[in-house]
Amino acid sequence: MKISRRAVLAATGGVALLTACGEEAKPAQAGELLRSKAPLPQPFQVPLPIPPVKKPVRSDATADYYRVVQRKASLEILPGLKTEVMGYDGLLPGPTFDVRSGRTTVIEQVNELDVSTVVHLHGGHTPAPSDGWPLDLLMPLQGGHGEHHMGTGDMKMGSRTYTYPNTQRAAMLWYHDHTMDYTAPQLYRGLFGVHLIRDEEEAKLPLPDGDRELPLVIADRAFNADGSFLYPVAKDGHGVETKYMEGVIADVTLVNGAPWPVHEVDAVRYRLRILNASNARRYGLAFDKGPAKFVQIGSDGGLLAAPVEHDTLAIAPAERFDVIVDFSKYQVGDEVTVVNKLDNNANVMRFKVARKANDESSIPAKLSSYAVLPRPTGVVKRTWRFRRGTAGDHQGWTINGKAFDPNVMQAQVKLDQPEIWTFVTDVHHPVHVHLAPFQVLSRGGKEKPGDYDQGWKDTVDIRPAEVVEVLVRFTAHKGKYLIHCHNLEHEDMAMMAAFETI
Ligand code: C2O
Ligand code: CU
Ligand code: CU
Repeated sequence: MKISRRAVLAATGGVALLTACGEEAKPAQAGELLRSKAPLPQPFQVPLPIPPVKKPVRSDATADYYRVVQRKASLEILPGLKTEVMGYDGLLPGPTFDVRSGRTTVIEQVNELDVSTVVHLHGGHTPAPSDGWPLDLLMPLQGGHGEHHMGTGDMKMGSRTYTYPNTQRAAMLWYHDHTMDYTAPQLYRGLFGVHLIRDEEEAKLPLPDGDRELPLVIADRAFNADGSFLYPVAKDGHGVETKYMEGVIADVTLVNGAPWPVHEVDAVRYRLRILNASNARRYGLAFDKGPAKFVQIGSDGGLLAAPVEHDTLAIAPAERFDVIVDFSKYQVGDEVTVVNKLDNNANVMRFKVARKANDESSIPAKLSSYAVLPRPTGVVKRTWRFRRGTAGDHQGWTINGKAFDPNVMQAQVKLDQPEIWTFVTDVHHPVHVHLAPFQVLSRGGKEKPGDYDQGWKDTVDIRPAEVVEVLVRFTAHKGKYLIHCHNLEHEDMAMMAAFETI
């Protein structure tokens, strides 16, 4: 690709986060570094927390019923300081849902916060009324002053029930806030969690499980001196301060809500379910010392056909990677650190190989009946252009030149018909489509997916001035859905479009 460093700098408004990735210098991030005012702790002091698995209040033959309270809580995230979070059940991340494919999950969400919220199940094949349309607001229980949009959505007071049919293959999904214009600050304060779907095909595989299957939810945050979250909300309430409109990149890396945590492992295989829940930061995850590698077995939409080995895992906001790491390749007593290659090998977390143990797990050569679909001919094609622009009288981000307008459907898409969608960018944009996963057909002119695009995806990282083609096919649910950038500062500053399935 012919794009000079100067051109990239111009396109990104002078963002200085450049690293050499590959042959040419490209910005590693779309974003601006936000530094904490609190003193930062030493890394690898806090044990890795594991979010609790949510228990249903009741179950019947086809469904499990849950109740979640969105509330504030004061948590010790940085040792010795208190941080007020907005969390599902007051947790950051929220509780993990661990459910069976085909069994319905019914969640009553209660809003005890003082702002309105919306819950979206990211990666879910969800009917539109439960998909978390950004104006289908759940207003605070105490009837707060509703500083947020009153909007044109389906509003509920105090509580709302979301129904997820889970009619999809085993995969790591996640749920998070999706409130119009406020997704970035509300997710930043804690409104996100993991939703795992399991199925028969996956259960038959001899993969590591129990406490050898770890969710790793990575999110960067900055803190004020008193421990509260630091986030540069624009003075007029529209998104972030202009300086940060490329994205908020913060200086503390949390994994499962703990700063640069440490986890003791047996010298055996582990299955890591990695989610990048950061607002804008991308990671190139790698071990500081070999010989372990990441053996990828799944992506956003579930298992791959066959395992793929990586030295580095490039993961953009909202993407998930399902990987096996074999710690038996290290000596007992070894410490191995996961670093971010896109940030000068900055720390992410550490594993301590504590003891030898039996390992009955293995990585089968064939994982799933997943099949690469051939490029279809004679289908509808659409192009989605992601670039800087204006949203009303503000600077913002646009899709096909338009700021998000909930009343405008940018496309009407027939159910059950495959289509080819082309994504085109100016700077980095992790593009996400609701309702159905897709397969990457080409990236950067090469007639195949990129190294990290394998399998079924629902979010694809498009690098500066790049073109990516995907094959989409929506099924079952008619209604209004979204395509948007998952850099949350871009999303809140209008980089979202609605389409309708018919
Ligand atoms: Cu993860 Cu529309 O979002
Ligand atoms: Cu989504
Ligand atoms: Cu973007």
